[in-house]
Amino acid sequence: MFDIHSHVLPSVDDGAKSYNDSMAMARLALADGATTMVMTPHRKDILEETEARAVNRMVVELQRLFESEGIALKLVPGMENRLELDLAERVKDGSALTINKGRYILVELDFHDMPMYTEHVLYQMQLQGLVPIIAHPERQMNIAKDPSILRRMVDGGALAQITAGSLIGAFGPQTKKVAERLVEGRLVQIMASDTHRPDGPRSPGLSAGVEQAARLVGMDEAHAMAVDTPQAVVEDKPVFSPLPTEEKSRPWWRFSRSR
Ligand SMILES: [Fe+2]
Repeated sequence: MFDIHSHVLPSVDDGAKSYNDSMAMARLALADGATTMVMTPHRKDILEETEARAVNRMVVELQRLFESEGIALKLVPGMENRLELDLAERVKDGSALTINKGRYILVELDFHDMPMYTEHVLYQMQLQGLVPIIAHPERQMNIAKDPSILRRMVDGGALAQITAGSLIGAFGPQTKKVAERLVEGRLVQIMASDTHRPDGPRSPGLSAGVEQAARLVGMDEAHAMAVDTPQAVVEDKPVFSPLPTEEKSRPWWRFSRSR
């Protein structure tokens, strides 16, 4: 499996606190079936503490440590970028990072607010050849109330990433319900862990989430959310994913916009 959203780099944000945390998280992810993980520290924390460019160096260093410890998990650089008015510009100047230096960019929306410029910024990024991936939309208040907001974004060419824990109740029954609704509506194409800790509800692992998604949309689609689609993202290839549909009906399929 390919996990495109994780906070495994040590001491850069609210994720892993030490190399020991990072190694423990990697071992758990491996045991759960992950082969590749994208390191996506919060952009805000990176900019306060260090330079965006340093993320690539930190990923190389952590990969070396894993190799010396016999941890066979492939690491890839990325960033969790809060949607701001100038985000498209920040990708151009290199202070906002895409996934593995490719076309896909993980974008976090404010949990409680949806500024007027949100869809404009997504569109600007797409004009630059980027494909925004909306991180954990099930936890965003406006989308939770009205999933048609996410549907407009996905219809416009964005992708969305659900957090595995949301589907198994790690963020409460309300978020679980919203997550299920988004999966059934084919409004999310990728599953990731967004792991922050080696233990507790934010520990690594996708398999329990995949199992839950399989109950809703079948094993083929659930598998694609954790393997085929995130693999295409990591490898910077076009994504083939179901189009949003009315809940519980059979989806059509589409190719994502490519560069
Ligand atoms: Fe995150």
